[in-house]
Amino acid sequence: MGKIKLTETILRDGHQSLLATRMGTDEMLPVIGEMDKLGYHSMEVWGGATFDSCIRYLDEDPWIRLRRFKEKAKNTPLQMLLRGQNILGYKHYPDDVLEKFIEKSIENGIDIIRIFDALNDVRNLKKAIEFTNKYGGHAQGTIVYTTSPLHDVEHYLETAKTVQEMGADSLCLKDMAGLLAPFEAYNLITKLKNEIDIPIQLHAHNTTGLGSMTYLKAAEAGVDVIDTALSALGSGSSQPPTEPFIYLFKNSEYDTGIDFDKVNEINEHFRGIRDEKKEFLGSFGVDPRVLKSQIPGGMLSNLRNQLKDQNMFDKYDEVLNEVPKVREEMGFPPLVTPTSQIIGIQAVFNVATGERYSVVSKEIKNYIKGQYGNPPGKIDQELKEQILKGETVIEGRYADHLEPALDDYREEIKEYIQKEEDILTYALFPSVAKKFFEKRKG
Ligand code: CO
Repeated sequence: MGKIKLTETILRDGHQSLLATRMGTDEMLPVIGEMDKLGYHSMEVWGGATFDSCIRYLDEDPWIRLRRFKEKAKNTPLQMLLRGQNILGYKHYPDDVLEKFIEKSIENGIDIIRIFDALNDVRNLKKAIEFTNKYGGHAQGTIVYTTSPLHDVEHYLETAKTVQEMGADSLCLKDMAGLLAPFEAYNLITKLKNEIDIPIQLHAHNTTGLGSMTYLKAAEAGVDVIDTALSALGSGSSQPPTEPFIYLFKNSEYDTGIDFDKVNEINEHFRGIRDEKKEFLGSFGVDPRVLKSQIPGGMLSNLRNQLKDQNMFDKYDEVLNEVPKVREEMGFPPLVTPTSQIIGIQAVFNVATGERYSVVSKEIKNYIKGQYGNPPGKIDQELKEQILKGETVIEGRYADHLEPALDDYREEIKEYIQKEEDILTYALFPSVAKKFFEKRKG
Protein backbone atom coordinates (compact mmCIF):
# COMPACT_ATOMS: atom_id res chain seq x y z
CA MET A 1 0.00 0.00 0.00
CA GLY A 2 0.97 3.61 -0.04
CA LYS A 3 1.62 6.32 -2.55
CA ILE A 4 -0.21 5.88 -5.82
CA LYS A 5 1.21 6.97 -9.16
CA LEU A 6 -0.60 8.47 -12.11
CA THR A 7 -0.10 7.99 -15.83
CA GLU A 8 -1.51 10.99 -17.70
CA THR A 9 -3.29 9.89 -20.87
CA ILE A 10 -4.70 13.12 -22.34
CA LEU A 11 -2.03 13.17 -25.04
CA ARG A 12 -3.07 9.72 -26.31
CA ASP A 13 -6.16 7.92 -25.04
CA GLY A 14 -7.85 11.09 -23.76
CA HIS A 15 -8.11 12.72 -27.17
CA GLN A 16 -8.46 9.36 -28.92
CA SER A 17 -11.55 8.61 -26.81
CA LEU A 18 -13.15 12.06 -26.77
CA LEU A 19 -11.72 14.12 -29.63
CA ALA A 20 -11.45 11.56 -32.47
CA THR A 21 -7.62 11.60 -32.00
CA ARG A 22 -7.46 15.07 -33.56
CA MET A 23 -5.08 16.96 -31.26
CA GLY A 24 -2.06 18.18 -33.18
CA THR A 25 1.51 18.33 -31.89
CA ASP A 26 1.64 22.14 -32.00
CA GLU A 27 -1.44 22.27 -29.79
CA MET A 28 0.04 19.96 -27.15
CA LEU A 29 3.63 21.17 -27.17
CA PRO A 30 3.24 24.48 -25.25
CA VAL A 31 2.37 22.68 -21.97
CA ILE A 32 4.49 19.54 -22.18
CA GLY A 33 7.41 21.15 -20.35
CA GLU A 34 5.08 22.09 -17.47
CA MET A 35 3.42 18.66 -17.44
CA ASP A 36 6.88 17.13 -17.31
CA LYS A 37 7.50 18.83 -13.93
CA LEU A 38 4.31 17.62 -12.23
CA GLY A 39 5.54 14.24 -11.06
CA TYR A 40 3.49 11.87 -13.17
CA HIS A 41 4.65 8.24 -13.27
CA SER A 42 4.53 8.53 -17.08
CA MET A 43 2.72 10.29 -19.88
CA GLU A 44 1.03 8.20 -22.52
CA VAL A 45 1.71 10.09 -25.73
CA TRP A 46 1.96 7.72 -28.66
CA GLY A 47 0.65 4.56 -30.31
CA GLY A 48 -2.93 3.33 -30.37
CA ALA A 49 -4.74 5.31 -33.06
CA THR A 50 -2.52 8.42 -32.84
CA PHE A 51 -0.02 7.18 -35.42
CA ASP A 52 -2.68 6.56 -38.05
CA SER A 53 -4.42 9.85 -37.21
CA CYS A 54 -1.18 11.84 -37.66
CA ILE A 55 -0.70 10.80 -41.27
CA ARG A 56 -4.38 10.39 -42.19
CA TYR A 57 -5.92 13.58 -40.76
CA LEU A 58 -3.26 15.88 -39.34
CA ASP A 59 -0.61 15.78 -42.07
CA GLU A 60 2.00 15.15 -39.41
CA ASP A 61 4.87 12.71 -39.17
CA PRO A 62 4.26 10.64 -36.00
CA TRP A 63 7.99 10.02 -35.56
CA ILE A 64 8.72 13.75 -35.58
CA ARG A 65 5.88 14.25 -33.07
CA LEU A 66 7.57 11.79 -30.74
CA ARG A 67 10.96 13.52 -31.05
CA ARG A 68 9.41 16.91 -30.31
CA PHE A 69 7.66 15.51 -27.22
CA LYS A 70 10.91 14.00 -26.00
CA GLU A 71 12.74 17.33 -26.32
CA LYS A 72 10.24 18.91 -23.90
CA ALA A 73 9.78 15.97 -21.53
CA LYS A 74 13.16 15.31 -20.00
CA ASN A 75 12.01 13.86 -16.67
CA THR A 76 8.77 11.97 -17.18
CA PRO A 77 8.90 8.62 -18.98
CA LEU A 78 6.97 8.61 -22.25
CA GLN A 79 4.65 5.72 -22.84
CA MET A 80 2.98 4.16 -25.88
CA LEU A 81 0.31 1.56 -26.60
CA LEU A 82 1.34 -1.30 -28.89
CA ARG A 83 -1.08 -3.91 -30.27
CA GLY A 84 1.40 -6.77 -29.84
CA GLN A 85 2.11 -8.56 -33.09
CA ASN A 86 -0.37 -6.20 -34.84
CA ILE A 87 2.04 -3.32 -33.97
CA LEU A 88 -0.34 -0.36 -34.58
CA GLY A 89 -2.26 -1.99 -37.40
CA TYR A 90 -5.01 -4.52 -37.89
CA LYS A 91 -3.11 -7.68 -38.88
CA HIS A 92 -0.09 -9.59 -37.65
CA TYR A 93 3.34 -8.50 -38.87
CA PRO A 94 6.48 -10.60 -39.14
CA ASP A 95 9.02 -10.34 -36.33
CA ASP A 96 11.57 -8.31 -38.31
CA VAL A 97 9.03 -5.49 -38.78
CA LEU A 98 8.00 -5.67 -35.11
CA GLU A 99 11.62 -5.59 -33.96
CA LYS A 100 12.51 -2.58 -36.10
CA PHE A 101 9.39 -0.76 -34.95
CA ILE A 102 10.24 -1.29 -31.28
CA GLU A 103 13.89 -0.35 -31.82
CA LYS A 104 12.90 2.89 -33.54
CA SER A 105 10.17 3.74 -31.01
CA ILE A 106 12.67 3.54 -28.18
CA GLU A 107 15.37 5.36 -30.15
CA ASN A 108 12.96 8.23 -30.86
CA GLY A 109 11.89 8.68 -27.26
CA ILE A 110 9.55 5.99 -25.93
CA ASP A 111 10.44 4.64 -22.48
CA ILE A 112 7.51 2.39 -21.63
CA ILE A 113 5.75 0.14 -24.14
CA ARG A 114 2.37 -1.20 -23.11
CA ILE A 115 1.90 -4.41 -25.09
CA PHE A 116 -1.47 -6.11 -25.46
CA ASP A 117 -3.06 -8.82 -27.54
CA ALA A 118 -6.76 -8.62 -28.34
CA LEU A 119 -7.23 -12.33 -27.54
CA ASN A 120 -4.92 -12.41 -24.50
CA ASP A 121 -2.98 -14.98 -26.51
CA VAL A 122 0.34 -14.64 -24.73
CA ARG A 123 2.24 -16.03 -27.71
CA ASN A 124 1.46 -12.73 -29.43
CA LEU A 125 3.09 -10.73 -26.61
CA LYS A 126 6.26 -12.75 -26.39
CA LYS A 127 8.39 -11.17 -29.12
CA ALA A 128 7.28 -7.61 -28.37
CA ILE A 129 8.30 -8.06 -24.72
CA GLU A 130 11.59 -9.63 -25.80
CA PHE A 131 12.44 -6.81 -28.26
CA THR A 132 11.48 -4.11 -25.75
CA ASN A 133 13.85 -5.66 -23.23
CA LYS A 134 16.55 -5.97 -25.89
CA TYR A 135 16.45 -2.25 -26.78
CA GLY A 136 16.37 -1.10 -23.17
CA GLY A 137 12.70 -0.13 -22.89
CA HIS A 138 10.28 -0.93 -20.08
CA ALA A 139 8.02 -3.74 -21.30
CA GLN A 140 4.55 -3.53 -19.82
CA GLY A 141 2.69 -6.78 -20.45
CA THR A 142 -1.05 -6.37 -20.61
CA ILE A 143 -4.13 -8.38 -19.81
CA VAL A 144 -7.22 -7.23 -21.62
CA TYR A 145 -10.21 -7.30 -19.27
CA THR A 146 -13.56 -8.55 -20.45
CA THR A 147 -16.44 -10.57 -19.05
CA SER A 148 -17.62 -13.90 -20.45
CA PRO A 149 -18.24 -17.41 -19.09
CA LEU A 150 -14.55 -18.11 -19.81
CA HIS A 151 -12.98 -15.00 -18.33
CA ASP A 152 -12.77 -15.83 -14.65
CA VAL A 153 -10.24 -14.78 -12.02
CA GLU A 154 -8.18 -17.94 -12.72
CA HIS A 155 -7.80 -16.94 -16.38
CA TYR A 156 -6.44 -13.52 -15.40
CA LEU A 157 -4.08 -14.87 -12.74
CA GLU A 158 -2.67 -17.50 -15.11
CA THR A 159 -2.19 -14.94 -17.89
CA ALA A 160 -0.53 -12.50 -15.48
CA LYS A 161 1.94 -15.14 -14.29
CA THR A 162 2.86 -16.04 -17.86
CA VAL A 163 3.35 -12.37 -18.78
CA GLN A 164 5.70 -11.95 -15.82
CA GLU A 165 7.65 -15.07 -16.78
CA MET A 166 8.03 -13.70 -20.30
CA GLY A 167 10.06 -10.79 -18.93
CA ALA A 168 7.52 -8.02 -18.52
CA ASP A 169 8.66 -5.21 -16.19
CA SER A 170 5.11 -4.40 -15.12
CA LEU A 171 1.56 -5.58 -15.72
CA CYS A 172 -1.35 -3.56 -17.05
CA LEU A 173 -4.94 -4.58 -16.54
CA LYS A 174 -6.71 -2.96 -19.48
CA ASP A 175 -10.44 -2.38 -19.17
CA MET A 176 -11.38 -0.68 -22.42
CA ALA A 177 -15.16 -0.84 -21.95
CA GLY A 178 -15.42 0.13 -18.28
CA LEU A 179 -16.68 -3.31 -17.25
CA LEU A 180 -14.44 -3.88 -14.24
CA ALA A 181 -16.63 -3.16 -11.23
CA PRO A 182 -15.11 -1.75 -8.01
CA PHE A 183 -15.42 -4.80 -5.75
CA GLU A 184 -14.29 -7.15 -8.50
CA ALA A 185 -11.27 -4.91 -9.04
CA TYR A 186 -10.46 -5.08 -5.34
CA ASN A 187 -10.67 -8.87 -5.41
CA LEU A 188 -8.72 -9.31 -8.65
CA ILE A 189 -5.94 -6.87 -7.78
CA THR A 190 -5.55 -8.30 -4.28
CA LYS A 191 -5.07 -11.75 -5.84
CA LEU A 192 -2.75 -10.43 -8.56
CA LYS A 193 -0.59 -8.73 -5.91
CA ASN A 194 -0.23 -12.11 -4.19
CA GLU A 195 0.63 -13.95 -7.40
CA ILE A 196 3.10 -11.63 -9.13
CA ASP A 197 5.98 -9.38 -8.09
CA ILE A 198 5.98 -6.77 -10.85
CA PRO A 199 4.06 -3.48 -10.40
CA ILE A 200 0.41 -3.43 -11.48
CA GLN A 201 -1.18 -0.61 -13.44
CA LEU A 202 -4.89 -0.23 -14.06
CA HIS A 203 -6.30 1.27 -17.27
CA ALA A 204 -10.03 1.93 -17.28
CA HIS A 205 -12.56 4.02 -19.16
CA ASN A 206 -15.39 5.82 -17.40
CA THR A 207 -17.91 4.73 -20.06
CA THR A 208 -20.23 2.94 -17.65
CA GLY A 209 -19.73 5.34 -14.74
CA LEU A 210 -17.80 2.81 -12.66
CA GLY A 211 -14.23 3.86 -13.55
CA SER A 212 -13.44 6.32 -10.75
CA MET A 213 -14.97 4.06 -8.08
CA THR A 214 -13.02 1.13 -9.48
CA TYR A 215 -9.78 3.11 -9.18
CA LEU A 216 -10.46 3.90 -5.53
CA LYS A 217 -11.04 0.23 -4.67
CA ALA A 218 -7.99 -0.70 -6.76
CA ALA A 219 -5.94 1.76 -4.69
CA GLU A 220 -7.15 0.07 -1.52
CA ALA A 221 -6.08 -3.28 -2.98
CA GLY A 222 -2.59 -1.90 -3.59
CA VAL A 223 -2.55 -1.07 -7.30
CA ASP A 224 0.67 0.78 -8.13
CA VAL A 225 -0.38 3.06 -10.99
CA ILE A 226 -3.69 4.28 -12.41
CA ASP A 227 -4.33 5.89 -15.81
CA THR A 228 -6.19 9.19 -15.73
CA ALA A 229 -6.86 11.94 -18.27
CA LEU A 230 -7.01 15.66 -17.44
CA SER A 231 -10.67 16.59 -17.07
CA ALA A 232 -10.75 18.63 -20.31
CA LEU A 233 -10.75 15.23 -22.03
CA GLY A 234 -11.43 12.94 -19.07
CA SER A 235 -14.43 10.88 -17.95
CA GLY A 236 -17.16 9.60 -20.27
CA SER A 237 -15.66 7.23 -22.81
CA SER A 238 -12.16 8.43 -21.79
CA GLN A 239 -10.20 7.64 -18.59
CA PRO A 240 -11.51 8.84 -15.22
CA PRO A 241 -10.40 12.48 -14.78
CA THR A 242 -7.00 13.25 -13.26
CA GLU A 243 -7.69 16.19 -10.92
CA PRO A 244 -10.21 14.54 -8.55
CA PHE A 245 -7.69 11.79 -7.76
CA ILE A 246 -5.02 14.32 -6.83
CA TYR A 247 -7.55 15.96 -4.49
CA LEU A 248 -8.96 12.68 -3.19
CA PHE A 249 -5.61 11.15 -2.27
CA LYS A 250 -4.06 14.35 -0.88
CA ASN A 251 -2.86 13.93 2.72
CA SER A 252 -3.71 10.23 2.65
CA GLU A 253 -1.34 7.32 2.42
CA TYR A 254 -1.99 7.33 -1.34
CA ASP A 255 -0.94 10.98 -1.90
CA THR A 256 0.14 11.40 -5.53
CA GLY A 257 2.44 14.30 -4.69
CA ILE A 258 1.08 16.25 -7.67
CA ASP A 259 0.17 19.92 -7.21
CA PHE A 260 -3.59 20.36 -7.60
CA ASP A 261 -3.40 24.05 -8.61
CA LYS A 262 -0.70 23.52 -11.23
CA VAL A 263 -2.59 20.64 -12.79
CA ASN A 264 -5.72 22.82 -13.01
CA GLU A 265 -3.74 25.50 -14.86
CA ILE A 266 -2.52 22.98 -17.40
CA ASN A 267 -6.01 21.64 -17.85
CA GLU A 268 -7.18 25.14 -18.90
CA HIS A 269 -4.91 24.88 -21.92
CA PHE A 270 -6.59 21.65 -23.02
CA ARG A 271 -10.06 23.09 -22.42
CA GLY A 272 -9.17 25.75 -24.97
CA ILE A 273 -8.13 23.16 -27.55
CA ARG A 274 -11.24 21.11 -26.88
CA ASP A 275 -13.51 24.11 -27.40
CA GLU A 276 -11.83 24.86 -30.73
CA LYS A 277 -12.47 21.32 -31.94
CA LYS A 278 -16.08 20.94 -30.93
CA GLU A 279 -17.04 19.10 -34.11
CA PHE A 280 -14.97 16.09 -32.99
CA LEU A 281 -16.13 16.02 -29.39
CA GLY A 282 -17.41 12.67 -28.09
CA SER A 283 -19.67 11.88 -25.16
CA PHE A 284 -18.75 12.89 -21.61
CA GLY A 285 -21.86 11.16 -20.34
CA VAL A 286 -21.97 7.64 -18.98
CA ASP A 287 -23.87 4.74 -20.50
CA PRO A 288 -24.50 1.93 -18.00
CA ARG A 289 -26.19 -0.12 -20.74
CA VAL A 290 -22.66 -1.02 -21.84
CA LEU A 291 -22.50 -3.21 -18.72
CA LYS A 292 -25.00 -5.49 -20.47
CA SER A 293 -23.97 -5.12 -24.12
CA GLN A 294 -20.22 -5.09 -23.21
CA ILE A 295 -19.53 -3.08 -26.34
CA PRO A 296 -16.71 -0.57 -25.73
CA GLY A 297 -17.35 3.11 -26.43
CA GLY A 298 -14.99 3.29 -29.41
CA MET A 299 -16.71 0.35 -31.05
CA LEU A 300 -20.16 1.87 -30.49
CA SER A 301 -19.22 5.07 -32.29
CA ASN A 302 -17.61 3.08 -35.15
CA LEU A 303 -20.79 1.03 -35.54
CA ARG A 304 -22.93 4.15 -35.51
CA ASN A 305 -20.84 5.79 -38.26
CA GLN A 306 -20.72 2.61 -40.32
CA LEU A 307 -24.50 2.21 -40.20
CA LYS A 308 -25.05 5.87 -41.07
CA ASP A 309 -22.71 5.55 -44.08
CA GLN A 310 -24.71 2.59 -45.34
CA ASN A 311 -28.10 4.17 -44.66
CA MET A 312 -28.82 1.43 -42.15
CA PHE A 313 -29.13 3.47 -39.00
CA ASP A 314 -32.62 2.11 -38.33
CA LYS A 315 -30.93 -1.28 -37.80
CA TYR A 316 -28.74 0.00 -34.94
CA ASP A 317 -30.52 -1.91 -32.16
CA GLU A 318 -30.57 -5.08 -34.24
CA VAL A 319 -26.81 -4.82 -34.77
CA LEU A 320 -26.25 -4.23 -31.05
CA ASN A 321 -28.14 -7.46 -30.34
CA GLU A 322 -26.19 -9.30 -33.01
CA VAL A 323 -22.74 -8.39 -31.63
CA PRO A 324 -22.89 -10.66 -28.54
CA LYS A 325 -24.17 -13.56 -30.69
CA VAL A 326 -21.28 -13.27 -33.13
CA ARG A 327 -18.88 -12.86 -30.22
CA GLU A 328 -20.11 -16.09 -28.60
CA GLU A 329 -19.92 -17.99 -31.92
CA MET A 330 -16.34 -16.77 -32.31
CA GLY A 331 -15.24 -18.07 -28.89
CA PHE A 332 -15.79 -14.95 -26.74
CA PRO A 333 -12.91 -12.69 -27.88
CA PRO A 334 -12.51 -9.50 -25.83
CA LEU A 335 -13.77 -6.58 -27.92
CA VAL A 336 -10.74 -4.39 -28.55
CA THR A 337 -8.82 -3.45 -31.71
CA PRO A 338 -8.77 -5.40 -33.98
CA THR A 339 -11.31 -7.99 -32.73
CA SER A 340 -13.90 -5.25 -32.08
CA GLN A 341 -13.77 -4.37 -35.80
CA ILE A 342 -13.80 -8.02 -36.90
CA ILE A 343 -16.85 -8.90 -34.79
CA GLY A 344 -18.58 -5.56 -35.51
CA ILE A 345 -18.29 -5.82 -39.28
CA GLN A 346 -19.62 -9.38 -39.30
CA ALA A 347 -22.56 -8.35 -37.10
CA VAL A 348 -23.38 -5.59 -39.61
CA PHE A 349 -23.18 -8.09 -42.51
CA ASN A 350 -25.43 -10.53 -40.66
CA VAL A 351 -28.10 -7.89 -40.11
CA ALA A 352 -27.76 -6.19 -43.52
CA THR A 353 -28.17 -9.41 -45.53
CA GLY A 354 -30.93 -10.78 -43.32
CA GLU A 355 -29.25 -14.17 -43.58
CA ARG A 356 -26.54 -14.71 -40.99
CA TYR A 357 -23.08 -15.51 -42.44
CA SER A 358 -24.36 -15.55 -46.02
CA VAL A 359 -21.68 -12.91 -46.50
CA VAL A 360 -18.46 -13.45 -44.56
CA SER A 361 -15.76 -10.81 -44.16
CA LYS A 362 -12.19 -11.67 -45.09
CA GLU A 363 -11.16 -10.73 -41.56
CA ILE A 364 -13.51 -13.16 -39.86
CA LYS A 365 -12.25 -15.93 -42.12
CA ASN A 366 -8.66 -15.07 -41.21
CA TYR A 367 -9.68 -14.98 -37.56
CA ILE A 368 -11.14 -18.49 -37.83
CA LYS A 369 -7.98 -19.65 -39.60
CA GLY A 370 -5.96 -18.55 -36.57
CA GLN A 371 -4.29 -15.49 -38.07
CA TYR A 372 -4.95 -13.47 -34.90
CA GLY A 373 -4.13 -16.24 -32.43
CA ASN A 374 -6.21 -18.56 -30.30
CA PRO A 375 -9.66 -17.36 -29.25
CA PRO A 376 -10.39 -17.80 -25.53
CA GLY A 377 -13.16 -20.33 -26.26
CA LYS A 378 -14.26 -22.64 -29.05
CA ILE A 379 -15.50 -21.31 -32.36
CA ASP A 380 -18.90 -22.71 -33.36
CA GLN A 381 -17.98 -25.93 -35.19
CA GLU A 382 -20.69 -25.76 -37.85
CA LEU A 383 -19.86 -22.16 -38.75
CA LYS A 384 -16.18 -22.94 -38.78
CA GLU A 385 -16.63 -25.68 -41.38
CA GLN A 386 -19.05 -23.58 -43.41
CA ILE A 387 -16.66 -20.62 -43.57
CA LEU A 388 -13.34 -22.47 -43.96
CA LYS A 389 -14.60 -24.67 -46.80
CA GLY A 390 -11.81 -27.20 -46.25
CA GLU A 391 -9.02 -24.66 -45.61
CA THR A 392 -6.91 -25.53 -42.59
CA VAL A 393 -6.41 -23.73 -39.32
CA ILE A 394 -2.89 -22.49 -38.61
CA GLU A 395 -1.02 -24.32 -35.87
CA GLY A 396 1.19 -22.39 -33.46
CA ARG A 397 2.01 -18.69 -33.44
CA TYR A 398 0.86 -17.06 -36.67
CA ALA A 399 3.90 -14.77 -37.01
CA ASP A 400 6.11 -17.89 -37.18
CA HIS A 401 4.50 -18.49 -40.58
CA LEU A 402 5.30 -14.99 -41.86
CA GLU A 403 8.42 -14.35 -43.94
CA PRO A 404 10.60 -11.34 -43.05
CA ALA A 405 9.14 -8.32 -44.88
CA LEU A 406 11.16 -5.24 -44.00
CA ASP A 407 13.35 -5.39 -47.12
CA ASP A 408 10.31 -5.72 -49.36
CA TYR A 409 8.67 -2.69 -47.75
CA ARG A 410 11.94 -0.77 -48.12
CA GLU A 411 12.11 -1.64 -51.80
CA GLU A 412 8.46 -0.74 -52.47
CA ILE A 413 8.78 2.72 -50.96
CA LYS A 414 12.42 3.53 -51.74
CA GLU A 415 11.78 6.68 -53.78
CA TYR A 416 10.09 8.29 -50.76
CA ILE A 417 12.39 7.24 -47.93
CA GLN A 418 13.95 10.13 -46.01
CA LYS A 419 14.61 8.16 -42.85
CA GLU A 420 14.40 4.52 -41.88
CA GLU A 421 11.24 5.10 -39.85
CA ASP A 422 9.39 5.88 -43.09
CA ILE A 423 9.56 2.19 -44.01
CA LEU A 424 7.63 1.35 -40.84
CA THR A 425 5.04 4.04 -41.47
CA TYR A 426 4.52 2.52 -44.89
CA ALA A 427 4.41 -1.07 -43.55
CA LEU A 428 1.59 -0.14 -41.17
CA PHE A 429 -0.57 2.06 -43.41
CA PRO A 430 0.58 1.58 -47.02
CA SER A 431 -1.92 3.69 -48.94
CA VAL A 432 -2.24 6.52 -46.40
CA ALA A 433 1.54 6.61 -45.96
CA LYS A 434 2.12 6.82 -49.68
CA LYS A 435 -0.23 9.80 -49.98
CA PHE A 436 1.49 11.41 -46.99
CA PHE A 437 4.95 10.92 -48.53
CA GLU A 438 3.73 12.15 -51.90
CA LYS A 439 2.55 15.38 -50.30
CA ARG A 440 5.76 15.75 -48.30
CA LYS A 441 7.79 15.49 -51.49
CA GLY A 442 5.83 18.49 -52.78
CO1 CO B 1 -8.00 2.88 -23.42
